[in-house]
Amino acid sequence: MGKTTNNMDGELGWSCPSNIAIIKYWGKKPVQIPMNPSLSMTLHKARTFTRLGFSFNPQHKRDGLHFRFEGKEAPAFEQRINQFLKVVEPHIPVLAHTSLEIESRNSFPHSSGIASSASAMGALAMCLVQMEEAIAGPVNRTSLYQKASFIARLGSGSASRSIYPRFAIWGRSDSIEGSSDEFAIPYSGFHPDFMNTRDAILIVESGQKKVSSSQGHALMDSNPFSSVRFNQAFENLAILKSSLADGDWDSFISLMEEEALTLHAMMMTGRPGYLLMQPGTLSILQKIREFRKETRYRLGFTLDAGANVHLLYADEDAGPVEQFISSDLKDFCEKREVINDRMGEGPAKL
Ligand code: DP6
Repeated sequence: MGKTTNNMDGELGWSCPSNIAIIKYWGKKPVQIPMNPSLSMTLHKARTFTRLGFSFNPQHKRDGLHFRFEGKEAPAFEQRINQFLKVVEPHIPVLAHTSLEIESRNSFPHSSGIASSASAMGALAMCLVQMEEAIAGPVNRTSLYQKASFIARLGSGSASRSIYPRFAIWGRSDSIEGSSDEFAIPYSGFHPDFMNTRDAILIVESGQKKVSSSQGHALMDSNPFSSVRFNQAFENLAILKSSLADGDWDSFISLMEEEALTLHAMMMTGRPGYLLMQPGTLSILQKIREFRKETRYRLGFTLDAGANVHLLYADEDAGPVEQFISSDLKDFCEKREVINDRMGEGPAKL
């Protein structure tokens, strides 16, 4: 730890994927504590690449941040990162004396409607904890990832889950040992039939969301159904645990679809209520259910806080499901755009 008295300059980088929640986080209390536990699948392709240059001098205070997104100045993002750094500083003490240069880009178009806060905050958190390790001395891998998840959570709740491969759980639940409201944990209790689960992201509407996630979370405080919803999430997680362990795709799908529709029901029944689904969203949901009934292939939908549909399906059923996407679903997508993603392995060092 004597190292902290020396000046140090360095450069490092991480990429971090986005994730899709099966059990949804919707509703929180200060500071970034979820009202219920959530479980997500980490994606592979949809990711943020972040490089961090740092200059540590214990005699100096941190200078203003230099941030570039996709090669350009990005004042709105820079402001959000500055706020985040203030929140994070008490947990990474060297930050008070470290000036930063950050450069970031996404693998997916910014306007594709994919939420980028999970991958962006995940990548930044990985960079910050590795930087702290470089300046203040080594920590073991489990605590490094746990700390990155904790830091990522302070930037965006869902980002806490992007730190881990495959499945991750954030939020305390009696049914999950080691679970916490402060950070996510990796979840490996799933049957091999869920390995490499695919996610086709059907872009019904690109561009900025009309109501942000932060506003949506806040509206849960006054939603007349919120306490029922929070209890439902606890129960659904306990049931999903068995579905995952048993390789039971039928119950996995029915829980996943219930969670997606409940999320949107909460938006519709808020005060004021709002609608993010588009006619194309509903058409896709109906088509997926019809196709599943006819063919018995293992596929089901989930939704983010937006109009786009995530179609999750078993790796083994990829051939016919992809054909179905091309023939029946692409017509409802903006510019016929579909992003073919799948279960991923988590952050990677650059
Ligand atoms: C619908 O993580 O974007 O995707 O913590 O305010 O940054 P903040 O919210 P955010 O909310 C994600 C909501 C969701 C469900 C989920 O990912 O669990």
